[in-house]
Amino acid sequence: MISEQVLLGLEQQVEQALRSGVQENLDILGYGEISTVLNLRMSSGRFACKRLPLFESQRQIERYKECFELYIEKLTERGVNLAKSSLEVVKRDDDKFVGYCIQPALSLDFLATEILARTPEKKAQELFSSLVTVVTQAIEEDKLGLDAQLSNWAFIDDKVVYFDVTTPMIRDEEGKELLDLDIFLASLPWAIRGIVRKWMLKDILDHYYFVRNVLLDLLANLYQQFQSDTGYQIDSMHVTFFGLCPNCQNSSDHSE
Ligand SMILES: Nc1ncnc2c1ncn2[C@@H]1O[C@H](COP(=O)(O)OP(=O)(O)OP(=O)(O)O)[C@@H](O)[C@H]1O
Ligand SMILES: [Mg+2]
Repeated sequence: MISEQVLLGLEQQVEQALRSGVQENLDILGYGEISTVLNLRMSSGRFACKRLPLFESQRQIERYKECFELYIEKLTERGVNLAKSSLEVVKRDDDKFVGYCIQPALSLDFLATEILARTPEKKAQELFSSLVTVVTQAIEEDKLGLDAQLSNWAFIDDKVVYFDVTTPMIRDEEGKELLDLDIFLASLPWAIRGIVRKWMLKDILDHYYFVRNVLLDLLANLYQQFQSDTGYQIDSMHVTFFGLCPNCQNSSDHSE
């Protein structure tokens, strides 16, 4: 656990960077769509600190914490190995609450993006195939989702480990998100928040709750990565999902 004092110090650095527009003093591990991931060096080791959107009230924190813990529990139940993750919330001078998801910082040698880029083809196929199996087993359609982009995974001793847990994707029996999405929408200009909430959010999130969509996203992501790394363009693609699903195994066409 990281002390409140250390987290407030980290938050001050972030605030300073946001105010000045100068990020040089921040030690950043990575950027995601929502969180900025900071590298915190302590005598006990290095930690990845994922800054969450600001919370307005104690109630919002409690709701988020419930979702966060439930998400971790459900993914674990469905066989996903997760990076050890805890949630810490501290109160800032302006009385707003800021949350950080804290994980041990993984060395680059473990990140899936790095490993697949330098692993021989056969081994890379095995690793990729185990990742696809984990995704296929983890998702409970329209109830439990995840974002399978390669940048969210690590391979540790050949185990597939997921670490992007800050946007818990869980829906109730009626298909309603358990997560209070307003916290995340707060980063959008107010004029478009309502439009996104009413017309776009369900479609965007559906991407993460259906195996087919999630795998297609993962492939599209790899495809873009390949093009930007190599400058080559892929103009014909053949993907084989052989052996994954019993129905496909009985059919003569295993490709999409
Ligand atoms: N535990 C970690 N150790 C090392 N690097 C990490 C760790 N967690 C995240 N990163 C780096 O930061 C990047 C973004 O992290 P992550 O995917 O967890 O956040 P995110 O995409 O912002 O989450 P969200 O999709 O909820 O917004 C990762 O792709 C990775 O490069
Ligand atoms: Mg991510």
